[in-house]
Amino acid sequence: MNPFKYGTIVRGEYFYDRSEECKRIVSTLSGGNNIVLLAPRRYGKTSLVFRALEELESKGFTCVYFDFMPVYSRESFIEAYTRSILAKQGNWEKAVKKVGALLSGVRLGLSLDPAGTPEFRINFIDAKVNEKTLQEILELPERLASGKKKFIMVFDEFQEIVKLNGENFEGLLRSTIQRQRNVNYLFLGSRTHLLSDMFHNKNRAFYDSAMSMQLDLLPERESVAYLKKRFAESAIKIDNATAGILLNQAGNIPYYIQLLAAEVWQYSIPAPAVVSEKSIIECAGRILDLKSDYYSELFDRHSAAQKKLLKALVSGSEGIYSAGYSSKHRLSAVSTTQKALAGLIESGIVEKTGNQFIIGDPFFRLFIKNYAY
Ligand SMILES: Nc1ncnc2c1ncn2[C@@H]1O[C@H](COP(=O)(O)OP(=O)(O)OP(=O)(O)O)[C@@H](O)[C@H]1O
Ligand SMILES: [Mg+2]
Repeated sequence: MNPFKYGTIVRGEYFYDRSEECKRIVSTLSGGNNIVLLAPRRYGKTSLVFRALEELESKGFTCVYFDFMPVYSRESFIEAYTRSILAKQGNWEKAVKKVGALLSGVRLGLSLDPAGTPEFRINFIDAKVNEKTLQEILELPERLASGKKKFIMVFDEFQEIVKLNGENFEGLLRSTIQRQRNVNYLFLGSRTHLLSDMFHNKNRAFYDSAMSMQLDLLPERESVAYLKKRFAESAIKIDNATAGILLNQAGNIPYYIQLLAAEVWQYSIPAPAVVSEKSIIECAGRILDLKSDYYSELFDRHSAAQKKLLKALVSGSEGIYSAGYSSKHRLSAVSTTQKALAGLIESGIVEKTGNQFIIGDPFFRLFIKNYAY
């Protein structure tokens, strides 16, 4: 079994560090405040939140994790949301009865699938979902909670709420949850700039409604220690400097660290020995090869101004709007660069961290470096 895992929520022995962040999430939520967790893509937000939820559950909170990504309409929201709340109520039959009694706009039912497993059904009474039905659904957690049994609701990929007819839904959700006494909310998502706008823009419904928490990269020292330990379990040695090279190639981003380490492990396992810099570079090259079709399509999808800017960003974004930067990278007018940059941020290719603009995927960065000229 490869000791490195990527692309899914990681837990148990696959998860390291983040204990301070976890403590902070647990204490903020159990103290009755809401959180919005902000971090660029693939920093480990969802995994951290799952870790925190385990702890909150053990303290007696009922925790409901809800992902907005698969939601495509108000009906689908209502169905999926009700289902995730019901799933925390234990026995399905009792849950359907209890929760069904609280809802007037929908009817809940159960049927048995061919394997005899109960399947939850929801029927809408009116042809079109009205505000009242939506509100009843949003009030469910508070109605099921009590002073002794508090709820924590987690909304992942929360920026996707705009799919549900934006502001109106946002406003309704905000005003409903504001009144709730026994429920706290944790918001997160992978499109940082959209999420940040929702909570920091005065004109948005969720403005100032949650404590912002910024998640940083995993500390290098912890990552090096983790890599050494996991490789050692398969009799593979890696020294500090070489582990540092691996982190560097992966842009130090948790997902890419695991991706590259998994490839290095695979490469080393037939004859476990010492990991060399050469093997890391070779493995990074293999990952690049595997992804090159996708990357070349992705690159070609952009305008000429964006391509130029992407190429420039490979070597940094210091002074991006200065004349020096522009002439060095043969960019067009500042307004063109600004527009190109806004598009790249919008599509999630470029992340703004502090004053820097970074191509989020280190392998895409490498691809552009080697491919575009
Ligand atoms: N604490 C951690 N320990 C070990 N690996 C981690 C940790 N956090 C994240 N990872 C790695 O990063 C990957 C992505 O993690 P996760 O899905 O939690 O991140 P995310 O920030 O929610 O991503 P996205 O922005 O795509 O939603 C994991 O599959 C794992 O490989
Ligand atoms: Mg996530």
